Amino acid sequence: MENIKKIIPKIVGKKILVFGDLMLDEHIWSRVSRISPEAPVPIADVARISHVPGGCGNVAANIASLKAKAYLVSVIGKDSSGQKLRKALSDKGISTRHLVIDPKRPTILKSRIIAGSQHMVRVDREDRTVLSPKLLATITKRLNKLIPKMDAIIISDYAKGSVTAKTTQLIISLAKKHKKPVSIDPKGVDFSKYRGATVITPNLREASIAARRLIISEKSLIKAGQVLAKLTGSKNVLITRGRDGMSLICPDEVIYIPAVPREVFDITGAGDTVIATLTLALATGATAKNAAILANYAASVVIGKIGTAPCLFEELEEAISGHEPIAKKIKLRKELHAIVQNLRNENAKIIFTNGCFDILHLGHVRYLSKAKKLGDILIIGLNSDASVRKLKGKDRPYIYELERAEILASLECVDYVCIFEETRPDNLIKIVKPDFHVKGGDYKINRLPEKKLVESLGGKVIVIPPIKGRSTTNLVKRILSGK
Ligand SMILES: Nc1ncnc2c1ncn2[C@@H]1O[C@H](COP(=O)(O)OP(=O)(O)OP(=O)(O)O)[C@@H](O)[C@H]1O
Ligand SMILES: [Mg+2]
Repeated sequence: MENIKKIIPKIVGKKILVFGDLMLDEHIWSRVSRISPEAPVPIADVARISHVPGGCGNVAANIASLKAKAYLVSVIGKDSSGQKLRKALSDKGISTRHLVIDPKRPTILKSRIIAGSQHMVRVDREDRTVLSPKLLATITKRLNKLIPKMDAIIISDYAKGSVTAKTTQLIISLAKKHKKPVSIDPKGVDFSKYRGATVITPNLREASIAARRLIISEKSLIKAGQVLAKLTGSKNVLITRGRDGMSLICPDEVIYIPAVPREVFDITGAGDTVIATLTLALATGATAKNAAILANYAASVVIGKIGTAPCLFEELEEAISGHEPIAKKIKLRKELHAIVQNLRNENAKIIFTNGCFDILHLGHVRYLSKAKKLGDILIIGLNSDASVRKLKGKDRPYIYELERAEILASLECVDYVCIFEETRPDNLIKIVKPDFHVKGGDYKINRLPEKKLVESLGGKVIVIPPIKGRSTTNLVKRILSGK
């Protein structure tokens, strides 16, 4: 966790050249309340229209919103969409000085009609013809001037005509000459045009098409990644897997990074956020693994937004810092799987404890903060109301499970709370595989039923002695005795 956090401040001010297919993303925010009398289609009453940079423009927007500097080299038309696009770029603090205007080519425009948070239809206006020799010459001049000054280069291929074998190899040879890493978000069937890339970031579908392999298992995914690594000569292949996160295929290891559990509103542009954050992290000297983990966090931010939107610097810090709003600390068992996998990837030390925590008292608070000091992340297994009733009798609990969970989650030292139905925490321990299993109270370690299980999973049991006389039962007795 610490290593990942340390990358973020180093991103500030990094210079990244972004080349590729630039487009204007138009969002037509509308309300739908009627069906057209002309045909069985909904009528979208337009509320407002907004414009943001799309394609490699969204990659540049992510670079800028992460407090780094994007140098955008691409082609737009001499038309109203071109003007709107230049304004949208300047609004995001991205210089349009390096754009090339082609009066014969319309600016690529993608119009999305959105009702509420639902995409209704997308209308594309584009010309995919490859760049003319004259345009290519102008672009070559720009690239020659800029590349020596950059920290890294991104090629964002949307198969709209800018990214050809010629332009790609031109950039890769210049980058090699000046020892700059090149990341490529690829497209299409022929990945050999990306030969010499440092890293490529296809999504699952793109990887399957280019590797000419069905991806139906971890094994076939890794194989496809290895085929693409060979084809492009790139050291690392990062296959993004939508809600399943991503897999990084490196020469000597394969790392699976599950998605950060989030409420998903719109995945548009998540791939752009991934390549922007990944490249920035690599430009700071981070390992490919840590760079991919950071990119995964950034992607989890933008899927929580509607439309094409970048990840802000502060949002990335927040996404990693673990200071998640209280409610978000309360996790379902199935979410815990992904969280634990992520923590393992970050070599975090996991502490687990469990209990009823009915009427929180100082004894609880003290032992939880002591427990947290044993490692990085404290996960609490909380007995549900039904299981407390089985353990403590029909008049318990005094406080309902969600309230008990929120009270625990409001403690700074607590990272996650998971409510479980069984009377024993064994199944949760099997998911968490804690480094430390902590019990607060006067327990004899050797008598603890879960000791064998914890140790068989590589963990250690720790008992933290209680504060004398502090217990829920005593508290209730005092309340009832009125003393
Ligand atoms: N449903 C989801 N839940 C959680 N995370 C997600 C989800 N969809 C995407 N992500 C995150 O976004 C990353 C990139 O998503 P995806 O694999 O869909 O890329 P993509 O298809 O290239 O996206 P784009 O549409 O921008 O090109 C994933 O690796 C993951 O981290
Ligand atoms: Mg993509």
